[in-house]
Amino acid sequence: MGYAAKIKKTGKKAIGVQPDVGIKMKTREEVASMLSSLLADTYFVYLKTQNYHWNVQGPRFVTLHKLFEEQYRELAQAIDSLAERVRFLGFRSPGSFIEFRKLSQIQEEVSIVTAEAMIEYLLADHETIAQNIREVVAVVQETGDSGTEDLLVQQLRWHEKNTWLLRSHFGELAPVVQ
Ligand SMILES: [Fe+2]
Repeated sequence: MGYAAKIKKTGKKAIGVQPDVGIKMKTREEVASMLSSLLADTYFVYLKTQNYHWNVQGPRFVTLHKLFEEQYRELAQAIDSLAERVRFLGFRSPGSFIEFRKLSQIQEEVSIVTAEAMIEYLLADHETIAQNIREVVAVVQETGDSGTEDLLVQQLRWHEKNTWLLRSHFGELAPVVQ
C-alpha cells in the first residue's frame, strides 16, 4: 500500500461550522487526514533542521548555519499553511509531539552528527517528503480540491528545490544515506 492510501483514513471528527465551498465531507475528511500526516513529517524536518542550525560544526559552519536557518524558517511557514488548511477543511489540526510522532515516519537522530551527515539526513528527508507529497497530490487531484492541490504543489516544488541545494554540497560525491 502506498503512502497516500495508508494515511487516507477517515474517522477524523469534523468540528465547528463546516465549509460550504463544493468539497464533499468525505473528501474533506480524507484530505485533512493526509495533510495531518504531511504536517507531522514537515514538523520533524523543521525541528531537525533547527537542531542542525544550532549544532553544526566544521569549516562550512557559516554556510550551513545560514542555509539551515533559511530552511527552518520556510518549513515553519509550510507547517502553518498545512495546519491552517486542515482547519479550513473543517477539522482539528494535530499540534503536539505525541500526535506528530504517531503520524510521521520521519526518523530522528539523537546522536551528534557531522556536518556531512546532517546534509545527507536532510536530503533524505526532503526526498521522502517530496515523494509523499507527490502521492498525495495524485489523490487530491481526483477529488477536485484544487486549493489543497495548489498548496501541495507549491510545497512539493520547495522540497524539490531543497534536495538540489543539499545535493549540491556533495560535488562529485554521492551521499551514502539510502
Ligand atoms: Fe539562530
